[in-house]
Amino acid sequence: MAIERRTVLLVGGAGYVGSVITGHLLRKGWHVRCLDQLIYRNESCVWPYLSYPNYEFMHGDIRDPRFTSQALKNVDDVVVLAGLVGDPITSKYPDESHAINRNGVGSFIDSIQHHPVGRLIFVSTCSNYGLVEEDKAVDENYPLAPLSLYAKHKVEMEHNILGLKGKVGFHPTILRFATAFGLSSRMRFDLTVNEFARELHLGRELLVFDPKTWRPYCHVRDFARAVEEVLRAPAGKVAFEVFNVGCEENNFTKLMVVEEILRHIPRSKVTYQERGADPRNYRVNFDKIRRVLNFKPEISVQQGISEILAALSQGLFDHVEERRHFFGNYEIFLPTAHISDLKRAV
Ligand SMILES: NC(=O)c1ccc[n+]([C@@H]2O[C@H](COP(=O)([O-])OP(=O)(O)OC[C@H]3O[C@@H](n4cnc5c(N)ncnc54)[C@H](O)[C@@H]3O)[C@@H](O)[C@H]2O)c1
Repeated sequence: MAIERRTVLLVGGAGYVGSVITGHLLRKGWHVRCLDQLIYRNESCVWPYLSYPNYEFMHGDIRDPRFTSQALKNVDDVVVLAGLVGDPITSKYPDESHAINRNGVGSFIDSIQHHPVGRLIFVSTCSNYGLVEEDKAVDENYPLAPLSLYAKHKVEMEHNILGLKGKVGFHPTILRFATAFGLSSRMRFDLTVNEFARELHLGRELLVFDPKTWRPYCHVRDFARAVEEVLRAPAGKVAFEVFNVGCEENNFTKLMVVEEILRHIPRSKVTYQERGADPRNYRVNFDKIRRVLNFKPEISVQQGISEILAALSQGLFDHVEERRHFFGNYEIFLPTAHISDLKRAV
């Protein structure tokens, strides 16, 4: 079957990254089905796609077999993005994180085995590397040291998936994404580059913790390209493989991110403080994805900052405070009736 005629199920496809992947794959001719519980009341993210004949939306929970078995019907490939994303939201909702990010995703992956799925992409995170003391960029073989509940569940899921080798008919790939930045129809202003750009655009004083800590960054549109590359690659190159997704040029300290924004908004007030609540510090090596898939991100942090500041200047995000729950992972909305239904169903 021509690759673009395949049907891809994006679980969590209405989120910040998923919305951009959806648009990218639809424009390339893929048939996209999205299963999402819209826990940030983020239904507006799917509106732009409803007019595409090759798009289907299903409102449902990854934990509910009634939805997942329906969503997996006649699907060729699956990309798992769903869950509570980030350290703050998972520490705020530990029970829900456990139920969704661990049990829900785990059972969903088990259920894929009963469907004739070709590829599975599990979207993981470079946060799994935790705190890297050495002065080196770490590759996929570096020991994982997850610090948060969020990263611990990601590591557990990675381990379970890699343990399926020789036992399942589908071909899984783990993608460890760098921290995302850039514009999306579900814009998140709780991510470093986007957040710093908005705060300084608004003329607010910015307090930056641990300015010398490193983090890799990658634009959301480059993540969409990476997913496409993995779906297109021969199974032998990607099955049961782990790839860091990003590029070394986009390894930045928080100070470097601030300095780049200050080039646009020089009169900003920024203060720095050591020993914040988040000890993560890691530079990441992205040679493997470049070597095996010839994939390299196209958009620099500098370009991403210009893009965000331009959108902010055009007034496209003047009403963030009125819909704060939508513009960041601060608070979740799970239907309570649905939760008790689920408990009965399990
Ligand atoms: N954003 C980043 O910087 C980043 C970095 C590394 C990895 N990732 C990974 O990329 C993926 C997407 O991240 P994002 O930034 O788009 O997050 P997001 O919070 O914007 O999107 C998550 C989506 O999952 C949906 N969801 C949550 N619980 C669900 C459930 N029980 N059933 C069905 N849908 C559910 C939400 O409604 C939301 O649309 C995640 O797996 C995340 O771990 C993101």
